Amino acid sequence: MVGLVLALVGVPIVALGLYDLIQRRHSILRNFPVIGHFRFLIEKIGPELRQYIVADNDEERPFSRDQRRWVYATAKKENSYFGFGTDDDLDKPGRIIFRNAPFPLNRKSSDEASVPCGKILGGWRNRRQSFRPASVINISAMSFGSLSGAAISALNRGSKLSNCLHNTGEGGISEHHMHGGDLVYQLGTGYFGSRDLDGNFSIDALMKTIANAPVRAIEIKLSQGAKPGIGGLLPAAKVTKEIAKARGVPVNRDVASPSAHTVFSDVEGLVEFVELIAEKTGLPVGIKSAVGSEKFWNDLASYMAETERGPDFVTVDGSEGGTGAAPLVFSDHVSLPFWHAFPLVINAFAKVGLSDHIVFIGSGKLGLPAEAAEALALGVDIVNVGREAMLAIGCVQAQKCHTGHCPTGVATQSRWLERGLDPKDKGVRLANYVTGLRYEMLRLSHACGVEHPALLSEEKLAVTGDGRALMSAHSWYGVAPEITQSKQRVAGIASALKEL
Ligand SMILES: Cc1cc2nc3c(=O)[nH]c(=O)nc-3n(C[C@H](O)[C@H](O)[C@H](O)COP(=O)(O)O)c2cc1C
Repeated sequence: MVGLVLALVGVPIVALGLYDLIQRRHSILRNFPVIGHFRFLIEKIGPELRQYIVADNDEERPFSRDQRRWVYATAKKENSYFGFGTDDDLDKPGRIIFRNAPFPLNRKSSDEASVPCGKILGGWRNRRQSFRPASVINISAMSFGSLSGAAISALNRGSKLSNCLHNTGEGGISEHHMHGGDLVYQLGTGYFGSRDLDGNFSIDALMKTIANAPVRAIEIKLSQGAKPGIGGLLPAAKVTKEIAKARGVPVNRDVASPSAHTVFSDVEGLVEFVELIAEKTGLPVGIKSAVGSEKFWNDLASYMAETERGPDFVTVDGSEGGTGAAPLVFSDHVSLPFWHAFPLVINAFAKVGLSDHIVFIGSGKLGLPAEAAEALALGVDIVNVGREAMLAIGCVQAQKCHTGHCPTGVATQSRWLERGLDPKDKGVRLANYVTGLRYEMLRLSHACGVEHPALLSEEKLAVTGDGRALMSAHSWYGVAPEITQSKQRVAGIASALKEL
């Protein structure tokens, strides 16, 4: 018996050792047969070891353990409080501090924790289907293809339950988007769902795509913070029947998204494209972009002010934003982080008198209470949440979106892995997260003595500077208080609150 066990264990080990000695791919294995494999194992599970055992509460990126714990607990409606007091370094430069009021507002928030947008989407250009977004928190663009059908379905169900908008991402509209949540249909350089057989943009195809879907607005994607200036390729193996149908492309063939749009290549062309789509559909039309060139934003704003035409909303995506897959150098080094990008954009529009007319949407790790409230205080009208929404539906930040092997079934097309994600249950979690986030934003505002986070004025918001210095967030980021608390913006919020 002992001999049999030894043979069963020993023979494979000896065989492995011999193989390691003669193979030429890995020098570690040639030099350390058998035990060298532990190095590869530990490298493979290193992220999990660090995440669960080594890293402290605020250390990890993109989202720290504290941040993830808050999202998970909120999504599950569990206890999201933390005990004993902060473990943050309170003197770290750039930390946001909300200045509490001596006499806070004593408000009871409803279960929905409604925080409506202060502006009308499409109001400035009088679009036929302009509307006031009911929620300042909405779901950011993530395509069916990068996310599983079950994940898209959960996001859409949760959007309906929490009365927020669900951006389709650039992969077209699928049956998973049709669970009652209102959509923002995104058009990227591949024009998925709006292309002819040769891949060119087709307005007829667009009209057909939106005809039977609850599309409330259209977003033209110029770029994305995590990978600006490059396109993408969906390999043939991932182009299933379902994905091909949603995108309007042939099955089992590589699908490329070019780096740039083919319909326009300058400011005038972009504005023409926006106006064409808005005119045909009656919907508000906006653009999404990472921020690199300052000149582009000045040119766009000036051209829009001159012609009184152009996008109804501008989504500014910071370089800290997420992606399904991107080259490391692009995620790490191309385009500005949100808090550099956004002031540049809002200032460009304010200079020409348009900042009160455009709806500003911000994204890039803003889906947490302090960050979202800070963004609204500094001129953002709506925050889009991407990965935080993924966390709410079960993502564990395994960072495997690009491999197709997401262990939680969120960012994969594997039927087996996707099976683990129950869209109904996770839809409720998404809704809990969105309402929980709005609730915390409201509580922050009330603690500071105002009714809506966009009313947090310069004196309510401080930032720690170097040493013991404390300065206003507005001067730290370079956004004038007159822009964020303009008469029109404040009046818009008052009307929104009255309509509740
Ligand atoms: C898996 C995944 C897929 C994404 N797909 C798209 C997309 O199709 N179009 C787009 O504009 N942005 C896409 N994004 C970027 C997000 O919409 C968002 O701008 C970015 O992640 C920043 O928000 P966050 O920090 O809340 O995640 C994707 C992000 C992730 C994580």
